[in-house]
Amino acid sequence: MSDPRRLPPPYRIKVVEPIPFLSAPERARALDEAGHNPFNLRADQITIDLLSDSGTGATSAAQEAAAAVGDESYAGARSWFRFRDEAADLTGYPHLLPVHQGRAGERILFSTLLKPGQICVSNTHFDTTHANVELAGAEARDLPCPEALDFDSDFPFKGNIDLAALESTLAGPEGPRVGVVLMTITNNGLGAQPVSMANLEAVAALCRRFGVPFFLDGARFAENAWLVRSREPGYADWTPRRIATRAFGLADGCVISLKKDGLSAIGGLIGLRDDDLFARCEANLIATEGFSTYGGLAGHDLERLAQGLREVVEPEYLASRAASTARLARMINDAGVDTVQPAGIHALYLNAGRLLPHLTPGEFPGHSLGCALYLSGGIRCAELGSLYLGTLDDQHRLVTPAPFELVRLAIPRRVYTEEHFAYVADTLAAIAKEPERVRGYRIVSTPPLLRHFKVRLAPLPA
Ligand code: F0G
Repeated sequence: MSDPRRLPPPYRIKVVEPIPFLSAPERARALDEAGHNPFNLRADQITIDLLSDSGTGATSAAQEAAAAVGDESYAGARSWFRFRDEAADLTGYPHLLPVHQGRAGERILFSTLLKPGQICVSNTHFDTTHANVELAGAEARDLPCPEALDFDSDFPFKGNIDLAALESTLAGPEGPRVGVVLMTITNNGLGAQPVSMANLEAVAALCRRFGVPFFLDGARFAENAWLVRSREPGYADWTPRRIATRAFGLADGCVISLKKDGLSAIGGLIGLRDDDLFARCEANLIATEGFSTYGGLAGHDLERLAQGLREVVEPEYLASRAASTARLARMINDAGVDTVQPAGIHALYLNAGRLLPHLTPGEFPGHSLGCALYLSGGIRCAELGSLYLGTLDDQHRLVTPAPFELVRLAIPRRVYTEEHFAYVADTLAAIAKEPERVRGYRIVSTPPLLRHFKVRLAPLPA
């Protein structure tokens, strides 16, 4: 048997899309016109797009064949039942509601489940999840395990919640205000780290003891299952699908963005056990997303999703994707750039603060590294540091920095080859040879909310 880390992907390429290669002056002009914010770049100005793994994957021939027979009936479409049966079999939830993407599910669930003044406790909320909890008038509180912030440690389950902190919150004076506990698998906000089954079991037991609903944000449920299988004793013989089903089985329900592990460009899902909560969410869904057998999705989307849910839990697919991300991490580390350890699956997080010690947090080292990757190689990625999380004064100067300065390289599913990744590593290696040449940035203008999407910046003088 060959080395499992070298196994080829279990597919070959059938349809391709050209990617642009701009010259260095063209890239410099494009970034300048984009206000030095990669979110404002046009896709045709980007060579390798690692901005997000959401909705950016390749579909399979089987998914496209299924899409061709999508049933677009307004109510009760055949495509809905195919999708529903697949999702019900995977998750075990008696009630399922389709939504157009994850944040629509978050809005419907939290505005129905949470009352103003309540608290949603999580290992880490994703940004839209945080926003939807707060839009419902509740507080989003993150209790990541202490190992999560030690980026160099090899602790295998840094996505875990801090169980002692969760228990003391539930048992303490704020306990009655906790309206839901939400576990994000894998933890996208803190390094793509997985949550162990032991941690999920302990959370489920605490939630039962204190009578608090327990939900999963399952955007990367299959990748979490693969990392459980690889890292947690007792699961090596389980299929990823069985592990995922067991995780869903521990919770009272879920919200899932199916733009990730649904292997599709669009889609989401709410899964519920409680009949009354289902009835109230369904009314909200019909009023705002669409009838409960399509929820804002076309029949062809539901078909791609049904097939995607089958393909995403195939062990060969997950093994090859995990190995491919791990190889990219090794190439980057060999080039002298530290990443959050151990490598997860959907993204790598570069430690920009460490690579660029000549830049203060107020000069946004993560953002500066992201811009350097674009200027040097046309690579687009996202900052996860003080630009995204810090607080500013009214002159847009940083007041409170983030606890870390990271850059996320998100890996679209089934899209890029090993040569693309070698190009990314080579580009980073060239930057890491002369890191002091990377210039910092200052903010020129910023919107009051969701700053990172629309902020405009200017490079500081060399
Ligand atoms: N939950 C998690 C953990 C996510 O990563 C995302 C999206 C969502 C919920 C919201 O889902 O986009 O379908 O509305 N994450 C994307 C990303 C945008 O790039 O990480 P959505």
